[in-house]
Amino acid sequence: MEFLFAPMEGITFALFRQIHQMMFSGIAEYYTPFIAPDSEGSFKPKYLKDLTADRNYGLPVIPQILANNANAFNITAGKLQALGFTEFNLNVGCPSGTVFAKHKGAGMLTDLNFLDRFLDQIFSESEQKGYRISIKTRMGVYSTQEFPAILAVYHHYPLSRLIIHARDREGQYQSEPDLPGFADALTKCSYPVSYNGNLFSRNHLNRLLACAPGTESVMLGRGIIANPALARALSGGEPLRCQELELFHDALLEGYLQGGLSPVFTVERMKHLWYYMHCMFSDEKKELKFLLKSKTLPDYRAAAMTLFRSGKFCAENCFRDNIH
Ligand SMILES: Cc1cc2nc3c(=O)[nH]c(=O)nc-3n(C[C@H](O)[C@H](O)[C@H](O)COP(=O)(O)O)c2cc1C
Repeated sequence: MEFLFAPMEGITFALFRQIHQMMFSGIAEYYTPFIAPDSEGSFKPKYLKDLTADRNYGLPVIPQILANNANAFNITAGKLQALGFTEFNLNVGCPSGTVFAKHKGAGMLTDLNFLDRFLDQIFSESEQKGYRISIKTRMGVYSTQEFPAILAVYHHYPLSRLIIHARDREGQYQSEPDLPGFADALTKCSYPVSYNGNLFSRNHLNRLLACAPGTESVMLGRGIIANPALARALSGGEPLRCQELELFHDALLEGYLQGGLSPVFTVERMKHLWYYMHCMFSDEKKELKFLLKSKTLPDYRAAAMTLFRSGKFCAENCFRDNIH
C-alpha cells in the first residue's frame, strides 16, 4: 500500500514535513496545503518560502494549487516549476463557504462545463511546459451520486493521479465516506487513484479494502496528524510510542522557535496540533484544558510535559472515532 500525506492548511508546513519524514518514514508524497493565487497568478511570499529547496531537501513534495482561473493556475505552476517542482495538484475539494462561493475548490463541481474548459486550458499548458497535474476531488456537491458525471470530465485529461476524498461537499469532514462509490470509480480510471477519508485505523483500512480490494494508494489526513506513525502502523509496523510522539512534538516546537516564529505564535501552532493529537490519550480532558489555556511558552511546555508524562497515552486511541 502506498501512503500519501494529505495537505492540511495551518499544520503541514515545510518543517512539519521535514521532521515527519526524518522520524517516520513510509510516506510516498507530501502534499502542501493549498496555494491560492489571485487572478494574475500572484500569491503571498510565505507560500514560496515554504517551498524552497533548503526547506524541502530530500522530500517528495507536491504543491497544491487552489484556483479556478486557468491563467492564475498556469502562472503559479510556472513559478513553482522554476523552483524544480514537476507535478502540481489541483484542489477540487475545499468545502469552506468563502472558497465555495468563489467557485473554487469543491465550488468547481457546481459547473462541469466550466470545469472541463478550465482543465483543458491547464492541461494544454502542462503538456507544453512538461509538468504533470493531479487532482484532489470531492465526489460531488450535494451527493456522491454526482461522481460518475464528474469522472467523465476528468477522463478527458491525462491526470498523473486522482485523489478521491470520498464525500460530497455537504458532508464537510463528518459524513460517512462513500466506499462503494469509490470502489466503482476505481474500476473506471486508467490513471493512478488514491483513496482519502477517515482512515484512522487498521479497521478503517480493512473496511476500505473489503469494499475496494484494488486500492493501492491512500491519503492520510487527520489520522496521521493525531498519530504520526499511522502509515507505519497500517503497514504492520510498530505502533506509536509516547516517547516518539513527545520527541516529534519537541522537535517541531524547537524548530518553529529556531526558525524565528514568535513564542506566542509557536504556542498557538502547537495548540492546533493538539486538536488532533489529544486522541492519543485517554481521560485527558483536565490536562488538555490546562494546555489549551496556556498563553506563554513556559506554561505551554509545562502543560505538554504533564500530558506526556501522565501515563494516559494509548497508541490505540487514535482509533476512537472522536476526530472531527
Ligand atoms: C485543518 C485542515 C486543513 C486542511 N487543508 C487542506 C488543504 O489545504 N488542501 C486540501 O486539499 N485539503 C485540505 N484538508 C482536507 C484533508 O486534506 C483531507 O482531505 C480531509 O481531512 C479528509 O481526510 P481525513 O479523513 O484522513 O482527515 C484539510 C483538512 C483539515 C481538517
